[in-house]
Amino acid sequence: MSRVRLVVVGPGLMGMKHIALVGAHPGAELVAIVQPEPVHARELSDTLGVPVHADVETCLEAEKPDGVILSSPNVFHFEQARACAEAGVPMLVEKPITDDVREAEILVEMVAARGIPTMVGHHRAHSPLVQAAREVVQSGRLGRLVAFQGSAVFRKPDDYFAAAPWRTRPGGGPILINLIHEIGMMRTFCGEIEAVQAMTSSRVRGHAVEDSAAITLSFRGGALGVFMLSDSGASARSWEQTTGENPAFFQSGEETCYTLTGERGTLHFPTLRLETFATKAEASWMKPFSVETVPVTRRDPLQAQLDNFLAVIRGEAEVVVTPLDGLRNLRVIDAIQRSAASGRRVEVAD
Ligand SMILES: NC(=O)c1ccc[n+]([C@@H]2O[C@H](COP(=O)([O-])OP(=O)(O)OC[C@H]3O[C@@H](n4cnc5c(N)ncnc54)[C@H](O)[C@@H]3O)[C@@H](O)[C@H]2O)c1
Repeated sequence: MSRVRLVVVGPGLMGMKHIALVGAHPGAELVAIVQPEPVHARELSDTLGVPVHADVETCLEAEKPDGVILSSPNVFHFEQARACAEAGVPMLVEKPITDDVREAEILVEMVAARGIPTMVGHHRAHSPLVQAAREVVQSGRLGRLVAFQGSAVFRKPDDYFAAAPWRTRPGGGPILINLIHEIGMMRTFCGEIEAVQAMTSSRVRGHAVEDSAAITLSFRGGALGVFMLSDSGASARSWEQTTGENPAFFQSGEETCYTLTGERGTLHFPTLRLETFATKAEASWMKPFSVETVPVTRRDPLQAQLDNFLAVIRGEAEVVVTPLDGLRNLRVIDAIQRSAASGRRVEVAD
C-alpha cells in the first residue's frame, strides 16, 4: 500500500514531535499542517515543504488526507475532532480527548455512530514497560491488588508557561495536561476508578489553575490509591524522569514513579523490580521476598502509537486507546476537580 497521507494540526511542542515521527516513518507522509497564525504558517511551510492551512475544514477539503493528528491546544480538540468526524477522516486526538466531559461524550457517540477510526494520544499505553507491568498484574503474581502509590512531582521551568499562556488558565494546568496520563496508567494497572477525593493548591505559582494536587482513589476491584502531582516541586519522582522514554528529560537512575502492591507482592515501576511470595499464606513482613527484575525490550511508545494509527487506518489493527478510554480518563479528572472544589469524595460517572 502507498504511504498513509497525514495532516498534523497544531505544530507546537507535541505537534512538532508528531511531524518528526511522521517524517521519519517509511509508511507515512506529511501532506499538510493546520496552524492559524499567518506568520508562523509561512515559516513552517518553507521549513517543512508542505502547505499550511488556517483551519481544519479547509485543509480536509483541499488535501483529502488518510488521517489527522490533532495536537492543538485542548480547547480546540472537540471542534476539530468533530470536523474530522464529519469529513469521515480517521484521527489521533492528543490527550485530553477534549477539555469538557459533555463534549467528549458527544464525540464518543459521534465517531461510534459514523464508524470513524479514532484514537486518543495516551501514548504510554504503547510502552513496553506498561505492557510488562500489566502482564505481571494480570498473571496474579502480586495477588489481589491492595494499593497503588504514584508520583508525578517535577519542576517545569518558568518559560514553559511564558511560551504558552493557555497552560496557566482553565483548560491547561497539570491536572489536565499531566495527570490525565497518570489516570490512564492507573486504570490500565488497577482497573476502573469508582471514587476520588482530592486537594489542590495554586499557591506556589499563583496561576488561575492548580500547580499541585494530592489525590486518593478507590478502584472498583477493591484497591486504594494515592497520587501526588506537582509541576512546581523539584523532584525526579515522575514518569518522564524515570522511564527514559523521552531524552528531553533528566534521568534519575534508580527512582520509581509507581508502586503496585497486592497480597503476595509488590512491583516497582519503571524499574520493574518485583518482590513476591510464592503464596498468600507465606506472605509476611517477617520474611524475605523473592526478588527479580522483569525483563523488557524497550521501544519508543510514540513510534508504537504512530504504528498503531497507521495500521488502524489501513484496517489492519484495533485502536489501543479508544475514545471511550479518553472519556473515562476525563471523567476521573472531572471528578478530581469537583472533589478539590467541594472538599468531598466524588463518585466517578460510569
Ligand atoms: N502525549 C503527550 O505526552 C503530550 C505532551 C504534550 C502535549 N500534549 C498535548 O498536545 C496538545 C498541544 O500541547 P502543546 O504543549 O504542544 O501546546 P503548544 O502550545 O506548544 O502547541 C500548540 C500549537 O497549536 C497551534 N494552535 C493554536 N490554535 C490552534 C488552532 N485553533 N488550530 C490549530 N493549531 C492551533 C499553536 O500555534 C501551536 O503551534 C495538547 O492537547 C496537549 O495536552 C500531549
